[in-house]
Amino acid sequence: MPDRAKISKAVIPAAGLGTRMLPATKVLPKEMLPVAGKPLIHYAIEELVASGIDSIILVVRNQKSLVQSHFERDLALESSLESRNLAAAAEELRRLSDIVNLQFVEQHQPLGLANAVCCARPLLGGESFFVLLPDVIMVNADPVARQMIQVHASRGGSVVAIREIEAKDVDRHGIVEVEHTTATASGAAVRITGLVEKPSLGAAPSRLGVFGRYVLEPAIWEAIEQTAPDARGEIQLTDALNLLCSKNCLFGLHFQGDHYDAGDPFGYFRANVDLSLCDPHLRQPCLEYLSRLQTSDALTLGK
Ligand code: UTP
Repeated sequence: MPDRAKISKAVIPAAGLGTRMLPATKVLPKEMLPVAGKPLIHYAIEELVASGIDSIILVVRNQKSLVQSHFERDLALESSLESRNLAAAAEELRRLSDIVNLQFVEQHQPLGLANAVCCARPLLGGESFFVLLPDVIMVNADPVARQMIQVHASRGGSVVAIREIEAKDVDRHGIVEVEHTTATASGAAVRITGLVEKPSLGAAPSRLGVFGRYVLEPAIWEAIEQTAPDARGEIQLTDALNLLCSKNCLFGLHFQGDHYDAGDPFGYFRANVDLSLCDPHLRQPCLEYLSRLQTSDALTLGK
């Protein structure tokens, strides 16, 4: 029988090295990088809360992580803001600390995504749970996490978010093999028969990439235990999920919405442009600035 209890807990792994965004991520965790004025971690938490999650476990590099400080009350700052007639800003900061039930666990070494998820296991009990990678921003009126939780509720099993990607990006993603004759329309869920982490284009079973969102059933724990570390010593969640396929209990959702890989310099730039354009205060000046850039050789950077 599939486990179809309501998904109420989520894990956000935030303990990676963020090497693609160095030197910005030397001291600052990638999850604190701002996109259109908000750190990546905010987008992650907002999506989960809007999807009905009420308990979130953040996996951080150490307990002094800035991610953790960001969600703690800062009474001195709040009262300074109030004394400067910035009560609304003070209230916004206060709200941060009680958005949702947040817990923090450490991953002492960056031994891969599956290892990061295992660090949260003692807080998850035997329930199915959600995993959200905060460097992938998803934007949609019906949040992608909620779309996936609905697939789990109706079909059971574990679920990953999938989308067709360009050939040049295949070797940067987990790639899935799906059952023949399955639907490809946005919103369709398909059975997955295999996964490969970052294959070469020639070896890839499809061009369907996995995008940073997972509903995982408790069977994942045994699969992770059976998964060997890769050449870099990291235990990949993709490899563990591949073991679940043989039991016919892994689905891929062709998710609806826009996505940004904000852990990559160009994806980060795109996220900033698009999400700034969604801000009513920034939209007009941004559009004017972008059109000036396009129509002139004005960008001389001080030369
Ligand atoms: P990435 O694959 O993007 O790795 O991790 P990374 O280290 O963060 O970044 P690059 O590739 O070196 O630039 C996806 C998510 O999994 C977390 C990361 O923090 C990120 O949110 N992660 C990854 C961990 O928490 N621990 C790990 O050991 C690896």
